[in-house]
Amino acid sequence: MKRCGTVLFIVLLALCAPLASAGTSAVSAIESHKHLGVASCSNSVCHGASQPFRDSNVLQNEFAVWQEFDPHAKAWQTLGSAASKEIGRKLGIGDPASAKICLDCHADSIAVENRGERFQLSDGVGCESCHGGSEMWLNAHADRSVTHADNLKNGMYPTDQPVERARLCLSCHMGTSDRMITHRIMGAGHPRLSFELDTFTWLHPHYKIGEAWTKRKGEWNGVRDWAVGQGVATENLLDLITDEKAGWKGIFPELVLFDCHACHKLMSGRQWGPRQGTGLGPGVVRLNDSNMLMFRHVLAPVDKAAAARILEQTRALHRATTESREATFAAARRLRSSVEGMLPTVAAFNYGADSLDAILASIEADAERGEYRDYASAEQVAMAAQSVVVAFENDGKIDGEKATVLRARLDALYATIKNEDSWSVKNFRTALAALRAAAP
Ligand code: HEC
Ligand code: HEC
Ligand code: HEC
Ligand code: HEC
Repeated sequence: MKRCGTVLFIVLLALCAPLASAGTSAVSAIESHKHLGVASCSNSVCHGASQPFRDSNVLQNEFAVWQEFDPHAKAWQTLGSAASKEIGRKLGIGDPASAKICLDCHADSIAVENRGERFQLSDGVGCESCHGGSEMWLNAHADRSVTHADNLKNGMYPTDQPVERARLCLSCHMGTSDRMITHRIMGAGHPRLSFELDTFTWLHPHYKIGEAWTKRKGEWNGVRDWAVGQGVATENLLDLITDEKAGWKGIFPELVLFDCHACHKLMSGRQWGPRQGTGLGPGVVRLNDSNMLMFRHVLAPVDKAAAARILEQTRALHRATTESREATFAAARRLRSSVEGMLPTVAAFNYGADSLDAILASIEADAERGEYRDYASAEQVAMAAQSVVVAFENDGKIDGEKATVLRARLDALYATIKNEDSWSVKNFRTALAALRAAAP
């Protein structure tokens, strides 16, 4: 990340600020040093062991785990699949495996001159796509006298920090102005993207958070990761909305920023109902506000007044989309500034056992007001509930039998949203109430 010097501080601040707010900082940090390639990490005495090492700070079998279990390892191969070829054909971009718009997210698409000798595009989303170019830290970082702070100074990316991690993941899992996913790509058959930081961090991990980790990197708190992830995702979406290049195509705004199911619904449905979070009437295309909605629940145990302000400003944004582009930009900037203002507090907040109850209560109160009519929000609620339930378990707040019941109800909640084309908000609400009833 670029540092602002003191002499030209004011001028540079003006230059650095829009850089950060445009959401390009994660990608530019990752690409600020040469990428030496996965082969530089995968030696059997480095991260390529077949079994975890006993007396090491890290597992050292990360490469094997990544290669076997982590879809990132196959992200480039995906571009050779029949589904990808069909997407490529419909978009008229030729072979997706060599098309920049696909490689940006399905591989480590750093500029050719910044690739080391052992770099291979076919490694997909490799170690340095997340941990940053290793040019400056590769040799030093295995030495026990070298601290985590030293590594960060040498260009390692702070994947341990939730705000920074969220920015990184979202650069591919939501898209930013420099790694953009568009409705045209979706229209050609790309799957809809959805993301929740805590859930996704633990789907295919090659790491273990224990004593050795906290000693070097600080406390881990999954609920805080969830909370931060919602704030950063909201910022990211608002940045795209206000980006003239990424957010607008011809007379239409970029449709990928809207709730997919606002348009993709059965004509015979007749299921419209009001949502307090939008304040909009029937027949209006809604922005995808699922992360904004969740950020209010994030704030429930932190600052109730701030949560109310987010609700008000989210409604103002929805209203502005029915007025003009200028009004939309102004409302988006106001909301973004509120989220940005709250993010440091959220990132420092110690979400403990009592805050978990406040979050679940806040989520359920919204269910009673009909807030989860939109699939993207219901999906975020399920992932939030999972994050909170796991935290209850880790806190030792629930014993064996209760945990089994809670797990079963969580599975039941997920089951109600399994099919985005035929789910029922009523069944979802019933399952959510049952989950809450089983929580301590
Ligand atoms: C350079 C782009 C990129 C970055 C950065 C990135 N991902 Fe991904 N991720 C992908 C792609 C592409 C896929 C789909 C791979 C495939 O199936 O071909 C994926 C898939 C996944 C999946 C599998 C989803 C499933 O349905 O099983 C998880 C989990 C995931 N990513 C988590 C993360 C997390 C957590 C981060 C941040 C630490 C992250 N990703 C950062 C591009 C990225
Ligand atoms: C902004 C980043 C981004 C861009 C650009 C992008 N993808 Fe993806 N793609 C992803 C992510 C993230 C996933 C995984 C979604 C998930 O499982 O949550 C994915 C999933 C896929 C899948 C489904 C993989 C599976 O295992 O089911 C295909 C196929 C695919 N992408 C093809 C393409 C093609 C072809 C292009 C170029 C036209 C492209 N993608 C551009 C991020 C991107
Ligand atoms: C999609 C992003 C992503 C990719 C790809 C990735 N990592 Fe990670 N890695 C993470 C995250 C997130 C963590 C957990 C947070 C942390 O410790 O920084 C982590 C943790 C680690 C750790 C443990 C660090 C510690 O201090 O305990 C090691 C070692 C590691 N990764 C090595 C690798 C290697 C080697 C590869 C390639 C084979 C790789 N990673 C690929 C995101 C990624
Ligand atoms: C403003 C309304 C609108 C929104 C919002 C919208 N779409 Fe679409 N979508 C359309 C229209 C209109 C078409 C048809 C274009 C055509 O016929 O060529 C379409 C086509 C598609 C198709 C191709 C369907 C086919 O039959 O081949 C897919 C897939 C798709 N959209 C996915 C999405 C996803 C995913 C999202 C959310 C990220 C989304 N759409 C948001 C209006 C919308």
